[in-house]
Amino acid sequence: MPIIGLAPMDGITDAPFRWITDIYGKPDIIYTEFVSVKGLILGKPAIQRMLLRHKTNTTMIAQFFGTEPEYFYQAAIVALEKGFDGIDINMGCPDKSVFHKGAGAGLILQPKLAREIILSVKKAVKEGIEKFGIKKNITVSVKTRTGYRTPQTKEWIGNLLEAEPDFICIHARTFAQKYSGLADWSQIGIAANLAKNTKTKIFGNGDIKSREQALERIKEYDLAGVLIGRAALGNPWIFRGIIPATEERFKVLLEHCQKFVEFFPNADLSIMRKHLGWYAKDFPHAAEIRNELMQVNNIDDVKKILNPLF
Ligand SMILES: Cc1cc2nc3c(=O)[nH]c(=O)nc-3n(C[C@H](O)[C@H](O)[C@H](O)COP(=O)(O)O)c2cc1C
Repeated sequence: MPIIGLAPMDGITDAPFRWITDIYGKPDIIYTEFVSVKGLILGKPAIQRMLLRHKTNTTMIAQFFGTEPEYFYQAAIVALEKGFDGIDINMGCPDKSVFHKGAGAGLILQPKLAREIILSVKKAVKEGIEKFGIKKNITVSVKTRTGYRTPQTKEWIGNLLEAEPDFICIHARTFAQKYSGLADWSQIGIAANLAKNTKTKIFGNGDIKSREQALERIKEYDLAGVLIGRAALGNPWIFRGIIPATEERFKVLLEHCQKFVEFFPNADLSIMRKHLGWYAKDFPHAAEIRNELMQVNNIDDVKKILNPLF
């Protein structure tokens, strides 16, 4: 069965978002936000909460970024201890702060180091499975882009294939494109051909708007799966191909806020405002409601806005 999963998104796919998406969308796999291996290992407390794992049978992947193979090794061990089902290595983030340190998409310019990191994580998984007596299969994967300035799919993906990750997810844009233009899915087709007869599966990613479109792309390019990112914002139902009634949207919006408070009792609910805006669409006077939701500071504020609408 092909896989349709929730893509990692920094500042978005946190524990409450993962919970809501899991319950209402039931994607096949779910990624965390990217987590700095160095920050995790040097013990920054805020980073621990990025790896909260709720109880579920859905495959949960911890995504890491950084440059030091040794920190990746240690971070992978932490992810195994926490019960994650896979470890993903970010080789695609185009943000300046990450790229300039040589991490994320910066690894596209360091092919040897990229392979070393994969091998380090694979070693950690092999040893961690024995150490913790883990019975399930744990995957090691990479999420990347098609190239630096122009697509260099053959060389770059070919380089990654040498280290034999279980799968590679390709966001079909280059580093230079960031999020502009359209994802070039023909590059994903090139990668899928390249990976035929290897141990590595290819997932595609970029601009998918529906479950139906995801299934079409999987068929067209002979892929193991597709990840959906932005189209899942305020829309966990996308993974089931369902368009929810307005009441259902509000119910889940409120539940998302409640989960946020449950996971992060000391955090400020204003962080949730962007999510509320994404849910509040496709009904009469949605813009007015969105404006009101942009002011909330606690759950009572949210209820006051929603109660008259139910
Ligand atoms: C706000 C935001 C944050 C993101 N953070 C991450 C991240 O932490 N790790 C990662 O691999 N990709 C990250 N991405 C990229 C997405 O996973 C995905 O590759 C990209 O959005 C294209 O897919 P889409 O068109 O379905 O959104 C992020 C994208 C967005 C919009």
